[in-house]
Amino acid sequence: MSFSQKYHQLPTFDKDAGDHESLQRKDPRKRRSPFLVIAIIMFLGASIPCMRMARSRAFLSACNGPQRNSSTLANLPSHYTLPSGDKIPSVALGVWQASQGEVGNAVKTALSTGYRHIDGAWIYRNEEEVGQALKASSVPREELWLTSKLWNTFHAPEDIEAALDQSLTKLGTDYLDLYLIHWPVAFKEGTTVLDEDLTADPYPTWQKLEELVDRGKIRNIGISNFNIRRIQNLTANNLKYQPAVNQVELNFWNPQPELLQWSKENGLLLEAYSPLGSDKQVGKSLSVPEVKDIACKLGITPAQVIISWSVQRGTIVLPKSVTPSRIAENLAVFELPQEDFERLETAATSHTPQRVVNPSAGWKLPFDVFDGQ
Ligand SMILES: NC(=O)c1ccc[n+]([C@@H]2O[C@H](COP(=O)([O-])OP(=O)(O)OC[C@H]3O[C@@H](n4cnc5c(N)ncnc54)[C@H](OP(=O)(O)O)[C@@H]3O)[C@@H](O)[C@H]2O)c1
Repeated sequence: MSFSQKYHQLPTFDKDAGDHESLQRKDPRKRRSPFLVIAIIMFLGASIPCMRMARSRAFLSACNGPQRNSSTLANLPSHYTLPSGDKIPSVALGVWQASQGEVGNAVKTALSTGYRHIDGAWIYRNEEEVGQALKASSVPREELWLTSKLWNTFHAPEDIEAALDQSLTKLGTDYLDLYLIHWPVAFKEGTTVLDEDLTADPYPTWQKLEELVDRGKIRNIGISNFNIRRIQNLTANNLKYQPAVNQVELNFWNPQPELLQWSKENGLLLEAYSPLGSDKQVGKSLSVPEVKDIACKLGITPAQVIISWSVQRGTIVLPKSVTPSRIAENLAVFELPQEDFERLETAATSHTPQRVVNPSAGWKLPFDVFDGQ
């Protein structure tokens, strides 16, 4: 089976079936004139960023009580140093669910705003547009940090290099700064059938990634969605390179304090995905009373409180946005005063954890991928 055939057979967990259904239910007799639709789209395109900017100003003006000037807040680390010695920027633009036609503009906006770290993946199906946006920018390659991820279908050592080459070609680069095993779940070639051997023992996959580091196609290798048991299962082998990072869900609803503590004790840097609770929970995250109170007090926005808290916890943070004003907002991180940091940490770790992303049921796995954490 050719590589492109495999591509089209892949499962995906990022489609919202509800959206498709509601589109199909629309009455075709009620179609609007195409000119009216274009005019509405142009109007919204021009006004939504302004409305959002106005909304974050409106948020701050609705705050009661004294407000600190955010320029008096200290900065947080802009980079972490990996075992390789490479410096990885602490805030990235995430591009999952950034669709075709919008992801390129998001990347261009991010680069012009000062982002240098893009968190992508083969399965996001947008690496080509990301690559075009990178090419159109004047940022030299050595100033960029590009992450991609090896999809579940390509864990067999003989499939890995071709998958990596696809990402490299689409991104328009000859090396990745970081390549992650996207999930600790391997599917048999071109199927969604579980490869039990490679899932139980990812060492053959890891050894191939180590070889690709030695050949200069990848600078750092890491893992994603691995719990402690699965990390230990991998690192029990005689690894040439330890995982540089573990990219996992970390947000107000699922702050994983035990995994964070264990990772710090074991020198493994975490990357916080879905930091705002993803598209499904972002509204709820930004309305958490502690988040809003701290934002008001410090004169910053609720999203900035959550993103700052993530970096202050000692993690990399990967907020996704395709909205120019939010892209800029999300890069501005500040050190929260210790009492505010602790208040938010306590609030986040005092409720029953709730995961936003868990594809186990969708993939019909005979286990929960996060079990035993
Ligand atoms: N390794 C993995 O398995 C995995 C899984 C999930 C995610 N990730 C990575 O983590 C990244 C982020 O996760 P995510 O995309 O799930 O969710 P997220 O960053 O927590 O939330 C994204 C949502 O928040 C909105 N948003 C962003 N900034 C905002 C702001 N300042 N104010 C209000 N709303 C805001 C975005 O809307 P707009 O875009 O419309 O502005 C979007 O709806 C992904 O893009 C991906 O790179 C990795």
